Amino acid sequence: MSQSLLIITGHSHGLGRAILDHYLENQSFQIVAISRTKLDIDSPNLQQISMDLSELDVLERQLSEVFPKGEFDQIILLNNAGWIGQIKPIGNLGPKEMRIQVNLNLLGPMYLTNAFIKRYKETDSEKIVCNISSGAASRAVEGWSGYCSTKAALAMFILVAAKENKSENFHFYSLAPGIVDTAMQGEIRESNETDFPEIEKFKAFKKEGKLVSPKEVAEKIAYLLNHTEKFKDVIQDVRKFEIN
Ligand SMILES: NC(=O)c1ccc[n+]([C@@H]2O[C@H](COP(=O)([O-])OP(=O)(O)OC[C@H]3O[C@@H](n4cnc5c(N)ncnc54)[C@H](OP(=O)(O)O)[C@@H]3O)[C@@H](O)[C@H]2O)c1
Repeated sequence: MSQSLLIITGHSHGLGRAILDHYLENQSFQIVAISRTKLDIDSPNLQQISMDLSELDVLERQLSEVFPKGEFDQIILLNNAGWIGQIKPIGNLGPKEMRIQVNLNLLGPMYLTNAFIKRYKETDSEKIVCNISSGAASRAVEGWSGYCSTKAALAMFILVAAKENKSENFHFYSLAPGIVDTAMQGEIRESNETDFPEIEKFKAFKKEGKLVSPKEVAEKIAYLLNHTEKFKDVIQDVRKFEIN
């Protein structure tokens, strides 16, 4: 049977967990999954690496473990781990939290993408780098300065990667997942109106059932990754396409 490879970050809960569950059902995928937490899943197809991706020295030392050798039809790097950060106006941000957020949301995916391209560039496999982005990459949100700016910077990084690697078998995406019912949305609702003026809107999303389930979003992401011929642009949004 032909083999494919998925390398995913932030698989332990939320959207990443739903993506993991989707690909675990597909026997042809070998999966390398990185979060701080390891899940109690026993599958020959899954290798879990427990790592704090904001600790860049550790990530740098372990990069070779993340990218296995082998013959694969398709190789996907899915940079999903992310943090909303301290929800506070600029002026009240902690330097340590700013550093953690930039490391996790931006530099970690940059390190991984750089190593991925170096490692697999010359292979014949179909290669995909998909960064989970956000509508906040292109919209200034009060209280979310670190989140908006790291997501915007990562989108530009991947646009450059796409321009540098124009080839039939290389695909790069910055993919907004919509508003997903995960712990991150819970964190957003726990902030306050002084720090985050849009809080009531986000509380209403939950109350009115407007959050999308991680499973539904995971299925759309897998559809995109499986139909790269239909998705030519780097910047994508799951709200703008249907599975058909
Ligand atoms: N939820 C939404 O509405 C929404 C909207 C737009 C974009 N997004 C994006 O979607 C992605 C997934 O978000 P989510 O809502 O599923 O968030 P989540 O429920 O908070 O899950 C975050 C995942 O990232 C991992 N993670 C966090 N910090 C980490 C660290 N320092 N090192 C390694 N792994 C770490 C967590 O695992 P551990 O805690 O085990 O490390 C977890 O698996 C993020 O990039 C987020 O920005 C979400």
